[in-house]
Amino acid sequence: MNNSAYQTLGFESLDGGVCLLTINRPASLNALNSATFTDLAHALERVAGDDEARVLLITGAGEKAFVAGADISEMQAMTAVEAMALSQTALRVFRQLELLPIPVIALVNGYCLGGGCELALACDWIIASESAVFGQPEVNLGITPGFGGTQRLSRLIGPARAMEMIVSGRQVKADEALAWGLVNHLYPQERLMPEALAMADLIRQKGPLAIALSKQAIVRGQGLDLDSACQIESQSFGLCFSSDDQEEGVAAFLEKRKPVFKGV
Ligand code: CAA
Repeated sequence: MNNSAYQTLGFESLDGGVCLLTINRPASLNALNSATFTDLAHALERVAGDDEARVLLITGAGEKAFVAGADISEMQAMTAVEAMALSQTALRVFRQLELLPIPVIALVNGYCLGGGCELALACDWIIASESAVFGQPEVNLGITPGFGGTQRLSRLIGPARAMEMIVSGRQVKADEALAWGLVNHLYPQERLMPEALAMADLIRQKGPLAIALSKQAIVRGQGLDLDSACQIESQSFGLCFSSDDQEEGVAAFLEKRKPVFKGV
């Protein structure tokens, strides 16, 4: 069902608890403007409040671009204060995305540059078409990344590779992005959505509570020392044992049948 009511986004609830969010500004290669952030924040709240949602897929409209960055025309006349406000908005919305209790997969179908790469980095993992192109080209404009790129890119692919990408602004092709661990899998363009839906199908058969707690431990653990992060894991593990899903999962294994999880 297409239940999109947004100026800059497509939002669809597909079968099996799959939500599909499409950045939809193809005339500017899906560049992110202020309206996109307002729409994104609202759509993410909808996803977070939907008990049936199991996986969120994010892509860009058309075959040319996932997102070619922040909207450069909107940035042209910005003051320093306005630019910082835009950055703060983007950081807040991307954190909202990162903290969703369900897995979020970025389907990168072309240019994934600047704020677009930062959006993909705020997803849980990235799959891409073989023709995808990644980059943080902000230095070409005399600016730094502003939507979390200096931090999330370094954490994902290491500071040296992130440094190279950010200070050179060079475009990184899909196969190199795969080798660097920026992308989990590459597919021909036409396989991108079917492969994402197959992954979503696999995920929705698992315990939603265990998924939410695992995700939270990974995301929140990133900024912590090993001992503190492992404490989150330990508490998550313990918490599972108060759930119906744990009882059902273990019983189903021992009874040699498929579990039916309820997320409680
Ligand atoms: N913002 C606004 N409009 C954009 C855009 C962007 N980031 N990227 C592309 N567009 C627009 C173009 O201006 C063009 O519009 P018109 O048809 O009205 O002229 C249209 O999209 C198509 O783009 P091109 O004609 O340039 O297409 P191309 O195939 O020749 O080149 C491209 C594609 C290499 C992606 C090129 O468009 C490009 O370099 N885009 C800018 C990429 C960029 O610098 N991104 C970083 C932005 S800054 C940022 O994101 C900061 C941050 O961290 C927050």
